Amino acid sequence: MSGQLSPIDTAKFVAAKRACDFVEDGMRLGLGTGSTAAWLVRCLGEMVREDGLRITGVPTSVRTAELARQVGITVTSLDEAKWLDLTIDGADEVDPELNLIKGGGGALLQEKIVATASDRMLVIADVSKQVQALGAFPLPIEVVPFGWRTTKALIEETLTSLDVLGDQASLRLNGDQAYVTDEGNYILDLHLGRIGNPRQLALVVNQIPGVVENGLFIDICDVVITGHGSGKVEV
Ligand code: 5RP
Repeated sequence: MSGQLSPIDTAKFVAAKRACDFVEDGMRLGLGTGSTAAWLVRCLGEMVREDGLRITGVPTSVRTAELARQVGITVTSLDEAKWLDLTIDGADEVDPELNLIKGGGGALLQEKIVATASDRMLVIADVSKQVQALGAFPLPIEVVPFGWRTTKALIEETLTSLDVLGDQASLRLNGDQAYVTDEGNYILDLHLGRIGNPRQLALVVNQIPGVVENGLFIDICDVVITGHGSGKVEV
């Protein structure tokens, strides 16, 4: 399945492959979104088709649902599954306390709901995602389209009062239109540089009317699997 891969895809693939060792027959699994999670879904599909693995997947985006179905994984909704044994997902940044920035792929809302409804969350990432402090990657904030400019101004004002805003928030675009999430919302990317207190920031941002969810995953991730371009994997 891996063929001739670039170092970055090798890193993602080996992390995803190792994560499959955590998957047991009969599990209800949260399936993440993004290029690393796509490797996982393909690997799990192979195990379903060739080894008879029985799992039920709860995808965190429309695109993951499509891929999961394509590779032969039984897909259901979170409400149908009720609670999940394990969620496996990628990340944009991982700090030493296993706090994360997610949402680079625009699926942070469903990803956070699904991960929170799981006994465990396992993150798969290439080594470039490991950071000492979160924030170099722009922090995605999902907001409702109604009044989004006002919400953006409120976020900026709040962050300035907390002394954490490094730059303006920017509306995520898809071509020349606003990027629209699976839930019909917009995403504002906050260019902060460094987040000194991610826990406080996550709480404060979510108090602002119009904000649906932020991409900080605090105390949600239990295990990180890091892949390297050489093929080495660390758990
Ligand atoms: C999607 C995410 C992804 O997990 C994150 O962006 C990492 O993506 P990739 O595996 O492609 O690097 O949070 O919303």
